[in-house]
Amino acid sequence: MKINFKVENNLNWCVNPMNMKFNDIVNGVAAGASTHQLWGSVAAIERGVIHIAGLRSLARIGDRVEIFGRMSSFGEIIAIRDDVVLAMPDSSMNGMSPGDRAYLHASKEVRPSNAWVGNVMNCDGVFADGRPTPQGERAMMLNPLGPSITVRRGLGERLNTRMAPFDTFLPICKGQRIGLFAGSGVGKSMLVGQLAKGVEADIVIVALIGERSREVREFVKETLGEEGLARAVVFASTCEEPAPSKRRCALMAITAAEYFRDQGLHVLLLFDSITRFADAHREIALTAGETPSLRAYPPSTFRAIASLAERTGPGSLGTGDITAIFSVLVAGSDMDEPVADMVRSILDGHVVLDREISERGRFPAIDVRRSVSRSLPKAASDNENALLIEARRLISAYDDASAMIQTGLYATGSDPVIDRAIDVWPRLEAFISDKAESCEASFEKLKTALTPQLCESGSDL
Ligand SMILES: Nc1ncnc2c1ncn2[C@@H]1O[C@H](COP(=O)(O)OP(=O)(O)OP(=O)(O)O)[C@@H](O)[C@H]1O
Ligand SMILES: [Mg+2]
Repeated sequence: MKINFKVENNLNWCVNPMNMKFNDIVNGVAAGASTHQLWGSVAAIERGVIHIAGLRSLARIGDRVEIFGRMSSFGEIIAIRDDVVLAMPDSSMNGMSPGDRAYLHASKEVRPSNAWVGNVMNCDGVFADGRPTPQGERAMMLNPLGPSITVRRGLGERLNTRMAPFDTFLPICKGQRIGLFAGSGVGKSMLVGQLAKGVEADIVIVALIGERSREVREFVKETLGEEGLARAVVFASTCEEPAPSKRRCALMAITAAEYFRDQGLHVLLLFDSITRFADAHREIALTAGETPSLRAYPPSTFRAIASLAERTGPGSLGTGDITAIFSVLVAGSDMDEPVADMVRSILDGHVVLDREISERGRFPAIDVRRSVSRSLPKAASDNENALLIEARRLISAYDDASAMIQTGLYATGSDPVIDRAIDVWPRLEAFISDKAESCEASFEKLKTALTPQLCESGSDL
């Protein structure tokens, strides 16, 4: 009799029904008709990776393996060699030794559920607080392709963000993907939190990858709060977790976003940070034997980031959209470093946060001059675009002359554009930190900020 086989464990990983090779073989093993086996044994442990003999004929990249050492622990298969498979462990390898039994669990599918909303999940797609996790009907792969280009819609309408600079200079449209670029401690995570509360969306998926655990707690309890969490699912894999867990958590979050998108919902995905995802990928790929390239990122990093980003964006007919915001940690504030450069070339906009601006206490520390939303000029009316061009011209004029202005070397009246930039500067600075009710209201505020103030003599500057 054929067994309707379903491997389940406490991580809720189960056999992918599409994975016929696995199912057929498992049925064969159960019926005693197959020589394939689900059990292997640890052959060697070196350089952070476990070599397992006996699983080569069944294992696939990304499968999970359970090692029964002094304690049971899990790992992820990252390479398949002639004689052994290589697994990266989820936890410390203390207490493991050659000869330990290893059991193969499949596979890379996940079953998101509407009941996940309002919860914090871990990298295995289970509630982080250990409660039993409801599983949905639909089995989804962790690594599918994004919607086909032939059926994918274009960007949708401009979204209200409740933040004046995003309503005006850097509009975010439905299905748009933008990056927040900054060095460490310049305010990326705080801005992600403000956008989580401000941007209009049906549901918010938050991926906190490689963050400190204190920050995850603060994000959930203080930044989101009860009201924010009620429309969100938070996926968290903190900095001390192994690279496969971080990467899996990121893929899990994107899969959940796709699940809600396919129900016709508008999903806001907040991903903090894609650099930590790239670092996790680098660690796995190098351990698997890939060649390091720029800053040791192997060539497959670009594909890994691109396929992640391409799964977000506008949906196809009958589905919703995934509007995505990725934070990018820019090492040494060098916007040309490999990950920053890759991400900038893939996304539909980049927002640069500047350390000098944050140091003088203006938050969000957006450097408007260096930031671009590629939904412009389409996303704004002619009048609004004219206003933005005028504001950018004055910001550039002030920036270029700022050293002279600060040192008192600039003589008022030498250049009418700089005179006007000096006049509007304090109001523009205040505008960038301002909250907003709607995009239209933000443009009204910008117009007011750009209106010349009467000088002491009563004439316009
Ligand atoms: N909107 C804000 N208002 C006041 N202070 C802020 C704001 N945004 C950031 N800060 C200050 O900057 C600090 C760092 O912010 P945040 O943790 O968001 O930076 P980050 O870029 O995410 O850092 P990391 O790279 O370490 O993750 C905060 O602890 C806070 O002091
Ligand atoms: Mg941060």
